[in-house]
Amino acid sequence: MANILVTGGAGFIGSNFVHYLVNHTDHHVTVLDALTYAGNLASLADLPENRVTFVKGNITDAPLVDELFSRTDSVVHYAAESHNDNSLHDPRPFLDTNIVGTFTLLEAARKHDTRLHHISTDEVYGDLELDDPERFTESTPYNPSSPYSSTKAGSDLLVRAWVRSFGVRATLSNCSNNYGPYQHVEKFIPRQITNVIRGIQPKLYGAGENVRDWIHADDHSSAVLTILDKGVLGETYLIGADGERNNKDVIELILGLMGQPTDAYEHVTDRAGHDLRYAIDFTKLRTELGWTPAYGDFEAGLAATIQWYRDNEAWWAPAKDGVEAFYATKGQ
Ligand code: NAD
Ligand code: TYD
Repeated sequence: MANILVTGGAGFIGSNFVHYLVNHTDHHVTVLDALTYAGNLASLADLPENRVTFVKGNITDAPLVDELFSRTDSVVHYAAESHNDNSLHDPRPFLDTNIVGTFTLLEAARKHDTRLHHISTDEVYGDLELDDPERFTESTPYNPSSPYSSTKAGSDLLVRAWVRSFGVRATLSNCSNNYGPYQHVEKFIPRQITNVIRGIQPKLYGAGENVRDWIHADDHSSAVLTILDKGVLGETYLIGADGERNNKDVIELILGLMGQPTDAYEHVTDRAGHDLRYAIDFTKLRTELGWTPAYGDFEAGLAATIQWYRDNEAWWAPAKDGVEAFYATKGQ
């Protein structure tokens, strides 16, 4: 049994990881989360109080972070500003949380010699051509496109520097696009599912040829736990599940699974600087740490996710109108 601090544990992937820890380990979990617009305590509501402690606070708050690190065995760092579209509209919070917040955690890890796992994204590598036979590997050069991905890239480089210069005991992972329960309705898949539930047409950016490499959030969690247990300090691991699909196919799949005509969507203004394709080669994680994804069937995982949004309207409804009003101002 260990004490694990999870930053951003009230967000999408962080809350899925907290559920995963409670269900698959005997660790005690402390969640540090600022409850920004993206954080939701309801995502942790059904978890036992003797296993999970919630602390509302900001990862840039150095005295708070220092105090929490003084009584934790390891830290998994999910907290971030995470949405590309928001980063195009207002980049500042991305610098504060993703860069200064990660720096604040690294300084505490250095002082307390705390084991840290840093969560990042494949978007730090930029994008691939549709017909490129290569996928991202751990040695792909960094080439981020957006304020979001560039601040995540910056945070990764800080972690690597603190490992090398100060001996901080850290590992890193860069994962592809996640789907599953508790994802905010601003993101692609939940936005389209909740649009269909509300009778709004799904919105496809541009022609919709852009490819994302989808992985279920539970597979991301199992990979992170594997790295926390068996990962080599200082190393980076790419996490993916061979889930490449273009956005048009995903919208048509959602419409079909929800009993709608598959052409009942509209094309809207494309995202500025829109990355064309992400694709992950997770050979290192598979061969060196023996990890494999459990969700092989994207359609089955998507159907379960649709059912979750149908069953949990009270969880997402409070955010829906505001998100759609914001997108409407952008022609999206
Ligand atoms: P999210 O936006 O759903 O959740 C982020 C959480 O962090 C929220 O609960 C928010 O309240 C909290 N937070 C934000 N700023 C904070 C601060 N300054 N102090 C404390 N808490 C703060 O994000 P997500 O999609 O769950 O992503 C989590 C992590 O995974 C991020 O680091 C992201 O870069 C990474 N990631 C996401 C994906 C994806 O598909 N969503 C893929 C790969 C990697
Ligand atoms: P998103 O969920 O924002 O994730 P990311 O930008 O990190 O990949 O978007 C996934 C893809 O879906 C991306 O190519 C943009 C596209 N998209 C749409 O076509 N329509 C939408 O309404 C949204 C939110 C995204």
